[in-house]
Amino acid sequence: MASRSIPILIVCTMGSSAGFIPAFHTAFRPGARIAITRPGYPAYVNTLLGLGFGIAEIPLNAGNGWRLTGPDIAAAHTREPFEGLLFASPANPTGAAVDRAGLADIVATCKRLGVRLISDEIYHGLDYRGPSVSALELTRDAIIINSFSKYYCMTGWRIGWMVLPDELIRRAEILQQNLFISAPTLSQIAATAAPGERDYAEQQKAGYAINRALLDEGLHSLGFEIGSPSNGAFYAYAGIAEFSNDSMAFCQSMLEDAGVAITPGIDFDRTDGAHFVRLSYAGKRESIELALDRMAKVLR
Ligand SMILES: Cc1ncc(COP(=O)(O)O)c(C=O)c1O
Repeated sequence: MASRSIPILIVCTMGSSAGFIPAFHTAFRPGARIAITRPGYPAYVNTLLGLGFGIAEIPLNAGNGWRLTGPDIAAAHTREPFEGLLFASPANPTGAAVDRAGLADIVATCKRLGVRLISDEIYHGLDYRGPSVSALELTRDAIIINSFSKYYCMTGWRIGWMVLPDELIRRAEILQQNLFISAPTLSQIAATAAPGERDYAEQQKAGYAINRALLDEGLHSLGFEIGSPSNGAFYAYAGIAEFSNDSMAFCQSMLEDAGVAITPGIDFDRTDGAHFVRLSYAGKRESIELALDRMAKVLR
């Protein structure tokens, strides 16, 4: 899917995961260093290192709602320069979302430092405080990655898209054709139907919003360290200092003793993640209630 009449290219990908590979190789030389946030989506580290790129981790903190800022980027760049920045808002695992001013700050900082921004917008539509803002609204220099997996609940269809600036079009076309040929036709057809089914997506989102408040209240009362509810996506990233300093052991015990599946923070942050866990509230309200109830029995 390509249009040459406008100075951008939209590439249809097999989910956002299959967008990352051509995006990195289109924008950067082999071995280039790309910055990512810590905590962050684990596949960023694994994919970048697996493809032979370097990484620079930008530490985020709960005090700032886990939000990435321009000064964070500039400080990390001074410590260790990088050519690209890959970040998601709303984010996995924290659900942190930047507002328009925050995104403008990130875009401007990247421009000033000569850093190519890759904006992973897979959780767009799942902002609880207002409309999601795309980097495409602020710059034509960024690569935008998106997918039908989250807002449209179409994970198994493996369908997404990538928006690229003018100067990267030819390289992206060549890479996409050589690496993947195309996204599956059936999934492309299904994806064209999805925007007509927004009522369903909004219904799911309304359910997540209820779960989000429920989980936040429940985690507070159980003694997890957690700030205000995350702004987006469907995750809570909570501190477990009250219970353990080993997030993997804690998750194993929750699974075995409470029958509740949560994810250890070390998957998202190899430095400080032992003190955190991620909980997903994408399920049914009853599942959240049951999980809180079961965890309460074990933790108390
Ligand atoms: C931040 C982020 N980006 C990308 C992905 C990959 O999604 P998909 O390949 O299904 O589009 C995920 C999946 O959880 C994610 O959390």
